[in-house]
Amino acid sequence: MSSSLTISTSCSVRLTVRTSGFHPGNRGSIPLPSTKKVMLRFDIINKVIEVNGFTKYLEIGVCNPLDCFDKVNCELKHGVDPGYEFEENPVTYQMESDTFFEYLKEHDPNRKYDVIFIDGLHKSYQVKKDIENSLEVLSPNGYVLLHDCNPPTSHMARETYRTEYGYEPWNGTVWKAIYQLRTTRKDLHVSVVDTDWGIGIIKRNELHDTKPIENNNEFYEYNIMDANREEDLGLISIEEFLNGVEE
Ligand SMILES: C[S@@+](CC[C@H](N)C(=O)[O-])C[C@H]1O[C@@H](n2cnc3c(N)ncnc32)[C@H](O)[C@@H]1O
Repeated sequence: MSSSLTISTSCSVRLTVRTSGFHPGNRGSIPLPSTKKVMLRFDIINKVIEVNGFTKYLEIGVCNPLDCFDKVNCELKHGVDPGYEFEENPVTYQMESDTFFEYLKEHDPNRKYDVIFIDGLHKSYQVKKDIENSLEVLSPNGYVLLHDCNPPTSHMARETYRTEYGYEPWNGTVWKAIYQLRTTRKDLHVSVVDTDWGIGIIKRNELHDTKPIENNNEFYEYNIMDANREEDLGLISIEEFLNGVEE
């Protein structure tokens, strides 16, 4: 079932999009099954923290902290953002993620985070780097989470944020980083919760026995992913996420 979702994708934009399996419950004319759960990115983050008793959280790409960062409940919270979209930029580390990870390597090589939420530059090459760097500073049972993994249209999955009309809502090419991991990595569990533009979930698999999915999309074309998105992205429902995280 498709339903309508109104949500902000960058700090200043609000829009409506159709996302399967999600309904914010703000349209009285559409009856919701009473068991339907609604979770946004910070709900997913908070659930992971709560269930595991985690204490250290890092957010890459914070923008306005009121939208997500401030809603995360965790003992220690650090934010990284160069401030491209939100002038005040009240974050712990006012820099790009690459610079932050270099800084850590040099000044605090033993620091670990339990949950790292990647929501910075939404281009596949940068997301890939952010994932690799995050895995280096992730605690043994930690989670890397990502926003914008399930773009509903090719326009939302375009390569550049700016269009001829200005800065339109944008998921970017985050999905390609997810697809690459799912087709190559035996040492990771990678899935995407079908809510809030797709919340990527990456966990280490110490057994290194994850079976990579077949790569049927050598050139990472949107339409091919679109036709097979459940498997390509590893889409799971909120209920499946909740069952998995409680295991
Ligand atoms: C979509 S916003 C983040 C939204 C926020 N995480 C939320 O959930 O509401 C993306 C942010 O990433 C920041 N950004 C862009 N390039 C970055 C980079 N290389 N490293 C870290 N942050 C970056 C931008 O300045 C912007 O504030």
